[in-house]
Amino acid sequence: MRDQVVLTGIKPTGMLHLGNWVGAIRPTIELSHKPNMKTYFFIPDYHALTNFKSPDKLCEYTYGAVATCIALGLDPSQVVFYRQSDVPEVFELNWILACFSPKGLMDRAHAYKMKSNPNSDVNMGLYTYPILMAADILLMHSNWVPVGNDQQQHLEIARDLARRFNQQYRTDVFTLPEALISLAGVVIPGLDGRKMSKSYHNTIPIFAPPEHLRKLVFHIATNSSGIHDQKDIETSTIFQLYQLFSTPKQMEDLKRQYQNGIVWKDAKEALFSLLDDQLRGPRAYYETLMDNPQKLERILQEGASQAREVASKTLERVRYTLGINQKRKTHGNGSSRP
Ligand code: TYM
Repeated sequence: MRDQVVLTGIKPTGMLHLGNWVGAIRPTIELSHKPNMKTYFFIPDYHALTNFKSPDKLCEYTYGAVATCIALGLDPSQVVFYRQSDVPEVFELNWILACFSPKGLMDRAHAYKMKSNPNSDVNMGLYTYPILMAADILLMHSNWVPVGNDQQQHLEIARDLARRFNQQYRTDVFTLPEALISLAGVVIPGLDGRKMSKSYHNTIPIFAPPEHLRKLVFHIATNSSGIHDQKDIETSTIFQLYQLFSTPKQMEDLKRQYQNGIVWKDAKEALFSLLDDQLRGPRAYYETLMDNPQKLERILQEGASQAREVASKTLERVRYTLGINQKRKTHGNGSSRP
């Protein structure tokens, strides 16, 4: 049986946060342990360039993302880690797919529409962002792409482009990818209750040092209900975060305390302890990994060479399908379909 391919990526634009963990890393870890899965985790550093232009930080956050995922349980002996920029085939496929992307499809893409002023805030990298993302996904024949809810539209665009290309050339060169949206589409809230996102400056970094983690948790916005009033779990960011990391029993206990009128300070303390207990071990491992950038670089380079093997075969088939370079082949050592 052919392996099923799992692929996901996280931009190196900051320290990875709880939203990244729940939306992308945790489901990827679960899938990577299943039989017959080939898992790729890559760092889309050229995607980051659409809104992040800080050379030193780009490098630091790239290593940080790899170290975070390994420390949380993505095993580099089973998962292929690579940087997008180390696999140049993706940029050729990006161009090819761009030639199959109607402008209207990009006009409807939310990544650029979320900017308040489309004329001044949007560069062409951001505008065509979904095409590069489709190239990342299709190049590796991904079947499953674990992502948070916010990436669903990008996955639909990738599927759409794959289908258009396959239909136009009557080929099966591209696998149609499926988004794997965790927890029925939950968007993990940040400190202010909006989606946790680096661009909103409301994140809780997974491996923030304990005293910083505590400070952030104590900054989570709460409502103004009276000190001993019953508290509503549905509208409480603290509760929403707590339930993502707790056992069912821990969650029921906290729910009861909400009904009995928990004081916000105690609810925050409960969330901090829960996170800190779970993260203590992985945080120490993360710090050890970050002290050894050569090892992280080696993992990325080994991953890039494995990824390039697959990528170059995909591109060879795509070029053949398009008729690019076909002539040279036929007149050379005889044509054979790749
Ligand atoms: P990025 O770097 O913004 O986010 C990485 C992953 O984390 C998820 N995520 C969340 N999930 C739930 N709640 C949140 N608050 C939250 N914040 C972030 C995102 O949904 C994502 O899965 N376009 C991608 C990067 C990318 C990619 C790819 C992903 C480029 N090429 C190919 C998959 C496959 C992005 O911006 O992710």
